[in-house]
Amino acid sequence: MKLSVIGCGYLGATHAACMADLGHDVIGIDVDPAKVQLLNDGVVPFYEPGLDEVLTRALASGRLRFTTSWDEVADFADVHFLCVGTPQKAGSYAADLRYVDGAIADLAPRLVRPSLVIGKSTVPVGTADRLAAYLLEHAPAGAEVHLAWNPEFLREGFAVQDTVSPDRLVFGIAAAEDEQTMRAVYEPVLVKNTPLVISNRPTAELVKTAANSFLATKISFINAMAEICEVAGADVAVLAEAIGHDERIGSKFLRAGIGFGGGCLPKDIRAFQARVGELGVSDALTFLHDIDEINLRRRAHVVDLARTIVGGRFVGTKVAVLGAAFKPDSDDVRDSPALDIAASVFTQGADVIVHDPKAIENARARFPNLHYSEDLDAVVADADVVLHLTEWKQYRELDPARIGSLVRGKHIIDGRLALDPALWRAAGWNYTALGRPNA
Ligand code: UGA
Repeated sequence: MKLSVIGCGYLGATHAACMADLGHDVIGIDVDPAKVQLLNDGVVPFYEPGLDEVLTRALASGRLRFTTSWDEVADFADVHFLCVGTPQKAGSYAADLRYVDGAIADLAPRLVRPSLVIGKSTVPVGTADRLAAYLLEHAPAGAEVHLAWNPEFLREGFAVQDTVSPDRLVFGIAAAEDEQTMRAVYEPVLVKNTPLVISNRPTAELVKTAANSFLATKISFINAMAEICEVAGADVAVLAEAIGHDERIGSKFLRAGIGFGGGCLPKDIRAFQARVGELGVSDALTFLHDIDEINLRRRAHVVDLARTIVGGRFVGTKVAVLGAAFKPDSDDVRDSPALDIAASVFTQGADVIVHDPKAIENARARFPNLHYSEDLDAVVADADVVLHLTEWKQYRELDPARIGSLVRGKHIIDGRLALDPALWRAAGWNYTALGRPNA
């Protein structure tokens, strides 16, 4: 089938490459000519394990190309995937829909033959119906242009796997025949017995925000338990393990620590609250405000713990930060808890030096005042305290004895509960983890 993918960021670039790799003819469009050039050259503009191979393969097959031309897109494709970003609007909790609206405004006047526009971006419920009305009015093909919603659940770090073998597919449709078109697009995925849920458009939009809200709630729930464990002498890691054995609860997304960040969970729970406010049912989501607060409190708590460890003031101390990305296997620093903590410690007077295997460039662009190094030994050298804030595999493999010989103070705060306390303590470290007993 001839597909277009509108917006070649994280979601779009992955979707375009995977759809071409699955056998479709795909054209990707982005407003950024530099990004289009990189993608056409086979270079993924961000770090995502495994995506470069898929991109290279798809380009070599001749089934994939990228452009900045809307005319090319409209001439070529009959199915258009909308994959642009919906960031948090400045000064508001609401989602900024300017890229969604802009893309539809560019596409609509060029839709001269029957076509299906499939939204994948995370949008406030009601957006799809509004866009469908716009297309009906502005597309020359009028009622022959259909719109469906097909939320995306991919995780950074697992983007390829989540695209070609998702947990489920959701088709939010307004016309029965669109199901057939979408089944044809996703045929290579559906043959793997991937569960398919068919719904109306508002349900499909809500599935995405509900899923991310639930995940955020799970994380903040365990972090709230960590707050209690800390004062009660209990161990949140053991507690999470024990409750996770109950299949109704499940053990995934119950890792306590400095909480969730990234370009999705934080802004999605805020946009959801803004939207239900507009719909007049804000009481339904008052709990999400607490979820956000618990999450942000964990970051502040690490800063407090570190300050206490270095003697009550950061001025004149050196703080080593392990990790800048919002999670491992990603170079994404959007709303990264790790960087937020690093910046806060810096503001309070410490000399902060940050290590990350992949995210330093993005981190530096965001917080140019912090020091960065890819040399881990240099980062920890003479540190008064080490903060482990993104659980990259290489940090779990560190030798505490060797690192201990480089630092000034053998104090480590494990913000991700990912290091082995026994190992670090045996090497003479004062190991502190959120929600775990301190000895
Ligand atoms: C999230 C969802 O998991 C995806 O299903 C969704 O498609 C995506 O948002 C999106 O809306 O596009 P992602 O942002 O890649 O994916 O990251 P997650 O793996 O969900 O992690 C989010 C944050 O939660 C990270 O900062 C991670 O460190 C933190 N986390 C995760 C915890 O603190 N504890 C956990 O137990 C799990």
